[in-house]
Amino acid sequence: MQLKFLAVALTAALTISTALAQAQAQAPIVIKFSHIVAPNTPKGMAAERFKMAAEKLTGGRVKVEVYPNSSLYKDKEELEALQLGAVQMLAPSLAKFGPMGAKEFEVFDVPYIFPTKQALYNVTEGPIGKGMLRRLESRGVVGLAFWDNGFKVMSSNTPMHAPEDLKGLKMRIQASKVLEAQMRAVGAVAVPLSLSEVFQALQTGAVDGTENPPSNMYTQRMHEVQKHVTVSNHGYLGYAVLVNKKFWDGLPADIRVQLDKAMADATVFEKAISQRDNDLALDAVRKSGLTTVYTLSPSEQAAWRAAMAPVKEDMEGRVGKELMAAIGRQAK
Ligand code: LMR
Repeated sequence: MQLKFLAVALTAALTISTALAQAQAQAPIVIKFSHIVAPNTPKGMAAERFKMAAEKLTGGRVKVEVYPNSSLYKDKEELEALQLGAVQMLAPSLAKFGPMGAKEFEVFDVPYIFPTKQALYNVTEGPIGKGMLRRLESRGVVGLAFWDNGFKVMSSNTPMHAPEDLKGLKMRIQASKVLEAQMRAVGAVAVPLSLSEVFQALQTGAVDGTENPPSNMYTQRMHEVQKHVTVSNHGYLGYAVLVNKKFWDGLPADIRVQLDKAMADATVFEKAISQRDNDLALDAVRKSGLTTVYTLSPSEQAAWRAAMAPVKEDMEGRVGKELMAAIGRQAK
């Protein structure tokens, strides 16, 4: 009688553990993709495109959950969360890599370093960019791609035509030493803040102005609390798509291949939409009637360039003299 009971109990235990193992084998691999901008921005739309491609190419074995608008983590927290494995994927702006120790990424913040988009692509899609992504692996993250968000405009409540017009203004920046030096060069006071705090800081007057590509400015509603926008194209904003290295290395090889394909697809898509999205956003800012949009003339732009020129030399020690020179050669 006792033996029979034992046999039944054993069979039941076996059935349960087989069912559990099967369920585990079938449960999708979840990728939490956290970011801090609105869904209707180049980064937001590319994250959704990646989700679609990844789920399709893996036949549902991978599920991508996209968390936009700092709904999971803010600027600095998201990098820490990635390194700890609390999320698997991010696309932080290149200006945010300093606190992780990857200061060389701040080279992208150097004012007027890329004379054209092509000069930028020569860097991000060539050996320089690939080397930069590879070196991130020592920090526990794998760099999958560069995404683009174009050149920045400057905003405040007073007109900014000459660089002197920025003197004394408190300007919100991303936490980058190069951006700090850029604001210092024009006599402004740099105030690092998370993106999710910018609208309120502008609204309450805690800061006077800020910089961003039009897409972020419009979707974060900054133009509603800024009277003037200057199209200065003084700096660049881009992203590196990162994945937690331990998670990535632990994936089945065939899944990694499909995710690489999905990333390639999302990257082509992102590059194709970013300029247009920013053009549309600038148009929308203009049409809102809340902000005056001013475009610098070539001679005004030359004055901005001259005022910000010392940043390059000042920051060579931080981002690397050789890297700066190598990027300079690409720009020719
Ligand atoms: C910012 O100002 O913090 C943004 O440019 C960040 C982003 O991810 O676009």
